[in-house]
Amino acid sequence: MGLDRAASIDDLRLRAKKRIPRFAFDLVDGGAENERNLRRNCEAFEEVELSPRYMVDVSEINTQTILFDQTFAAPFGMAPIGMLNAFWPDADLTLARLCKAQNIPYVASSAASTTLEDLAEAAEDNGWFQLYVSSNADVTEGLIGRAEVAGYTKLVVTADVPAAGKRDRDIRNQLSVPFRFTPEVVAQCMLNPRWALTSLRHGTPNVANYADLLQSATSYADVQKTLITPSFTWDDLKRLRARWKGKLLVKGILHPKDAEICADLGCDGIVVSNHGGRQVAFGPPTIKALPAIVDAVAGRMLLILDSGIRRGADILRAKALGADFSFAGRAFAFGVGAGGQPGAERAFEILQLELIRALGQLGAPNFEDVGPCHLSRVQ
Ligand code: FNR
Repeated sequence: MGLDRAASIDDLRLRAKKRIPRFAFDLVDGGAENERNLRRNCEAFEEVELSPRYMVDVSEINTQTILFDQTFAAPFGMAPIGMLNAFWPDADLTLARLCKAQNIPYVASSAASTTLEDLAEAAEDNGWFQLYVSSNADVTEGLIGRAEVAGYTKLVVTADVPAAGKRDRDIRNQLSVPFRFTPEVVAQCMLNPRWALTSLRHGTPNVANYADLLQSATSYADVQKTLITPSFTWDDLKRLRARWKGKLLVKGILHPKDAEICADLGCDGIVVSNHGGRQVAFGPPTIKALPAIVDAVAGRMLLILDSGIRRGADILRAKALGADFSFAGRAFAFGVGAGGQPGAERAFEILQLELIRALGQLGAPNFEDVGPCHLSRVQ
């Protein structure tokens, strides 16, 4: 199937699944434990109904959105994804360049397989930096300092990893750090020669921002300690707020009280996110968590939503319920996995064209005007 016959993000996912060895596909596609949250994120969007309004002139549709005085072409951007080059070689740079070319935000993960400096160069002023707070304060400060020098002005601090998620697929696939070429992995690679050859050319991906630090890591526990910490608290966030002079957002907020504390501490925004269902299986889908958060903090800071965006209409649903903007993670990853750069472009195009069509059908020519009035009152 050619990329032009991929009608949806789900089609791109299926195409990626055919081209990528199972262990690498599962690394991105999988979720926590029995993957309840992964499924519920998408199902919950479908439960939000919007009521189209007719006899409105929709001959011109405007999806432009202004965030922090910068105008973007669409109301969605790329969420941070770690180790994405293991999914498809050069995925990080491909997506950073795509976001710049299409004029949408690109959030560089601190666990990316490309350095934050190279990603800043590729995404230019559309690049934001996502920070995992390390159990080693020097590591955290090192990343912040590098992000400043590289020119990032937006810092997205991820809050939802007090412990690493338990992902059953990765355990079954025996993914290990450092990476081991087990006979099963070799067999899977042989079934996907294009992936294997391209990967060989690019070399084994690593967590590039920490490459030196992780050289001596012999276990996953070592890696975890470097990347994240179980003791990240509001006091640390207060210090980060004082330290970072640019815009600061907190990612992974699900509780209205946590949203209120972020606003009280002077954060510029939050990302209502459950990490795409990768951290816990028992929590709420983000679109269900959103209304209480909107009630608590609307108007005090920027509200972004992610987790489960697969359709342009999902971005409208989030806006109708009070999110200013959305991020998509896997939607872009599936695109690049389905076909490299053209696949990434197709993922953007699918979401954007679905969004434009849905705005026309909703009778809302300006994305900015979508709001609670568009929610269906039909019970
Ligand atoms: C992520 N996510 C993530 N978040 C983050 O803050 N830092 C990171 O390094 C990563 N890494 C990561 C890897 C992979 C493989 C996935 C799928 C996700 C979470 C990501 O930013 C975002 O919250 C979700 O991807 C959103 O859900 P969807 O759009 O993938 O359903």
